[in-house]
Amino acid sequence: MDKIVNPFSPNAGSRPPELAGRDAIFEDVRVFLGRLPLRRSVQSILFTGLRGVGKTVLLNEVMHMAEERGDVLPVFLEASENRPLGEMLASPLRMALLKLDRMKGARDKVRRSLAALRNFVGTIKVKFGDVGIELEPAAGLADSGDLQFDLIELLSAVAEAAADRRMGVVLLVDEVQYVSGDEFGALVMAMHRMQQRGLPLAMVGAGLPILPGLAGETKSYAERLFTYPVVGALSKEASVRAIRRPFADAGVRVEDAAAEMVYRRSGGYPYFIQEWGYQLWNFVGRSPVMRRDVEMVDAVVTEQLDGNFFRVRMERLTPSEKSFLRAMSEFGEPEIRMADLSRRLKISLQALGPRRSALIKRGMIYSPAHGLVAFTVPLFGEFLRRNPV
Ligand SMILES: Nc1ncnc2c1ncn2[C@@H]1O[C@H](COP(=O)(O)OP(=O)(O)OP(=O)(O)O)[C@@H](O)[C@H]1O
Ligand SMILES: [Mg+2]
Repeated sequence: MDKIVNPFSPNAGSRPPELAGRDAIFEDVRVFLGRLPLRRSVQSILFTGLRGVGKTVLLNEVMHMAEERGDVLPVFLEASENRPLGEMLASPLRMALLKLDRMKGARDKVRRSLAALRNFVGTIKVKFGDVGIELEPAAGLADSGDLQFDLIELLSAVAEAAADRRMGVVLLVDEVQYVSGDEFGALVMAMHRMQQRGLPLAMVGAGLPILPGLAGETKSYAERLFTYPVVGALSKEASVRAIRRPFADAGVRVEDAAAEMVYRRSGGYPYFIQEWGYQLWNFVGRSPVMRRDVEMVDAVVTEQLDGNFFRVRMERLTPSEKSFLRAMSEFGEPEIRMADLSRRLKISLQALGPRRSALIKRGMIYSPAHGLVAFTVPLFGEFLRRNPV
């Protein structure tokens, strides 16, 4: 079929042609966004799941839903390794405040929160450029240098400004696992304060499973203040729809046996489904798509996935990190005990600690429970076993 109009989207964060299997999540988000500007209490949301399951796509949808409503201001940021939260927050927050400033209504609260923001970034060099309004110095506002304290003041000021215009604010944070423990703690406490004060600001985050890694007070607050919808592989029904709908829109039927084979081969993982759909689209020349077609593109799909999804992640690692992952893959199990890994590698648990931490920090593995590790990339073990060396 015509490659130019191929609707499948095997790319990070790209909206798929059929966003299947997430209706329950969207219903929860709809209620959450509706309650926010009414200042009804809400729990913040953290989408957790493995690589390529569609977390970023969901966050983008939440942003669009907020924009469509018009009474919830989205503030979007993507966390990255080794960048402080304050720095990441400054620019999107400023843009949101300027948007708020352009709306009708009293401006003093917006000015106050812009001043708070200016104080907040006072120590990190962020250029403000032309903010369009004179900033009045507001000494003692979000300028203590203590992140937890300042973040609460800053976000309170923003939420108050929004509330003044009967608006809510949703803080959208992608790749939450890269936010450091202390910073995440500060965010959690800030959400706690918003709740207590009935302020219309809450967070929707997305990231790898991090909850088991949190400790102490942060953990207990985070458990109460957030819901954790698990974003996982699609069911058989949703997978079949994800593959079939885009073809149907082009007048092409996909036989049951073909769609089911894509489901089995992809494990229902959204990224893999898109790759299968993409290659099938380019390969087939007539309706219906049959099981034989799926078999014919198998090799090229595997090659694409190995190159684009799996291998790129290995390239950034040190030899000792690679051997850690290879040893994990040899167990052929989804979760591996550190003790077993230590025995297999003949390296003490203590000596393995730093490698484990480095791989968690890079987002390659996570700890589903104490003493266990697992790959964050679906089917990564299979990839490694397919590609020894
Ligand atoms: N519900 C869905 N149905 C079909 N395809 C989907 C669905 N959600 C996402 N996809 C597709 O899956 C792929 C991965 O999506 P996305 O980048 O949002 O995943 P992610 O969970 O953010 O991954 P990562 O952890 O690597 O950032 C994209 O190609 C996207 O088009
Ligand atoms: Mg993502």
